[in-house]
Amino acid sequence: MRYWLVIPAAGIGQRLGAGCPKQYLEVAGRSLLEWSLAPFLADVRCAGVVVALAPGDPWWPALRARLPATVVEAEGGAERGDSVRRALEALASRLDDDPWVLVHDAARPCVERAEIDALLAAVAAHESGGLLALPLADTLKRQQPESAAMATATATTKAAGPRTAGATDTAVRVERTEPRTGLWRALTPQAFRLRALLGALHAAAAAGRVPTDESQAIEWAGHGAPLLVTGSAANVKVTTPADLALVERLLAARPREVTT
Ligand code: CTP
Ligand code: MG
Repeated sequence: MRYWLVIPAAGIGQRLGAGCPKQYLEVAGRSLLEWSLAPFLADVRCAGVVVALAPGDPWWPALRARLPATVVEAEGGAERGDSVRRALEALASRLDDDPWVLVHDAARPCVERAEIDALLAAVAAHESGGLLALPLADTLKRQQPESAAMATATATTKAAGPRTAGATDTAVRVERTEPRTGLWRALTPQAFRLRALLGALHAAAAAGRVPTDESQAIEWAGHGAPLLVTGSAANVKVTTPADLALVERLLAARPREVTT
């Protein structure tokens, strides 16, 4: 089954706060963006790649020079969904047909071939598409609404005593336990037909709604329900310094040949 890959890579990585957008950080010998691309570039089913980039991105040209000609660029937008929409518009203007498109975050460098295979196998028999996801494992707690302010006050007055590993200054009070039955965490890649996804993202933009993943736009459009396909717990998105430390350990333990 052939597909096109769209990589939204136009974010600035504000929450990580590194010296450059997180997709360009070097980990275990290559940038996170290269790690995220690697299993797709090694997949003969991948017809080509569109990478959505921030206008004037100064880090891209050096990386571009190391990538194959099947990788093309599109200009990203203000929100992740805008970046994906623009990449899909670029693709739709080049193609006459309606291929499968996989959308994968530039900041998910640990995606594995087995996950891509599982997603493609699942959507092959499901025209509405689907996404990698993980059932929630931890018990869910909702914090008291006033808790955030209290935690900040506590943190600033706390004496510099001994700290346990992983301790933070963000202790807050529990309001209640939320049921987690039937809840999943959405990962990427997410797989949809090009024209259905583009239409859904156009409709969301026209309604002033901002989807946080592709599936949400498809859900709003009222197409058939996307499939939840179990992904890997290692397929983390780098958002915070703790995530970066985790993927550093995961990627350092992974020989390049396995991923490419
Ligand atoms: N992204 C994008 N266009 C945007 C915003 C995000 O293409 N306008 C991309 C990011 O580059 C990343 C993916 O979407 O690959 C997931 O977004 P996120 O983890 O939020 O990355 P950033 O927006 O870069 O991080 P932050 O929100 O901390 O600034
Ligand atoms: Mg963001």
